[in-house]
Amino acid sequence: MPMVGLGTWLISNDEVSKIVTDALNLGYRHIDTAQVYRNEEGIGKALVASSLLREDIFITTKMWPGMFGQEEPFQNFKGAMSACDDSLTFLQVDEIDLYLIHNPFAKENRLEQWEAMVELKKQGKVKNIGVSNYNVKHIQEIEMAGLEMPVANQIEIHPWHVVRTELAQYMDKHKILPIAYSTLAPIPNWREGSQWNGKPEDMKSGAIPCQNIADQYGVTVPQLFLKWAIQLGYAVLPKSVHYNRLQENLDLDHFTISRDDINAISNIAKDEQQCLAWSGSWDPLDTD
Ligand SMILES: NC(=O)c1ccc[n+]([C@@H]2O[C@H](COP(=O)([O-])OP(=O)(O)OC[C@H]3O[C@@H](n4cnc5c(N)ncnc54)[C@H](OP(=O)(O)O)[C@@H]3O)[C@@H](O)[C@H]2O)c1
Repeated sequence: MPMVGLGTWLISNDEVSKIVTDALNLGYRHIDTAQVYRNEEGIGKALVASSLLREDIFITTKMWPGMFGQEEPFQNFKGAMSACDDSLTFLQVDEIDLYLIHNPFAKENRLEQWEAMVELKKQGKVKNIGVSNYNVKHIQEIEMAGLEMPVANQIEIHPWHVVRTELAQYMDKHKILPIAYSTLAPIPNWREGSQWNGKPEDMKSGAIPCQNIADQYGVTVPQLFLKWAIQLGYAVLPKSVHYNRLQENLDLDHFTISRDDINAISNIAKDEQQCLAWSGSWDPLDTD
């Protein structure tokens, strides 16, 4: 899996084709989407129009398992199977490279949903199966049931939300790859103007964190945070609708952050850990 993928949450189906085309031309080889982003169809159009070989592009998408307070019931086995068929149709591909359960909210249906993931892999519709926003207790249900284990767990990772030790150790032990999302959340303009921004006001309007460290390397703060995550071993999924930022977010090979600076960035918000990508007041990792 390429270490830098294009995030596509909050990119509409209408605008996503052009952005994915630009990203592929710039050298992105991993696209991250989800059923709930409602832009898989636009991504599919860009994939079909691309002259790249299908095997050269890594596609991640996610099954929406349901959520408390939503009208639709939590997804069951059959629903999960057909959600995957829909994604394959929209994306115009025969196989998804990495298929994830988007979150652990469906307490009663979690195992049933995972059984569908295993079956989808068996049927050759998806190459790899994983989860997202799962904590140790959620993955342990799969382990206890003796089912095939997830290969990846996509989670919010930035200095204000570093991977908790217990989860890191568990994933390491079971060879579950952590994939980082919302790595740019600490920068003030992150998700600017969007209702999906759980950041406290002071983080929206404050100074850009770690600017002094970024200056030492002659890079931007977004580049610093992305490289920080990559050097810690996490693939990253920066999203942007701007060509120059797509370029900037991929241009990470010309510098290496020292071990001391990696530690300084990791510790910058040591006692202020908070989930920023969801509502701001709760963390999907803490779901029952
Ligand atoms: N599994 C999950 O539950 C989950 C949750 C959240 C996200 N994700 C995935 O992870 C991806 C990334 O997360 P995210 O979209 O929350 O946040 P992100 O990629 O960390 O940050 C995106 C925000 O930063 C801005 N930005 C991007 N590059 C920039 C740069 N170089 N300079 C200044 N601003 C820049 C973007 O604005 P512009 O677009 O205006 O440039 C946007 O507001 C998502 O798109 C999605 O694919 C998954």
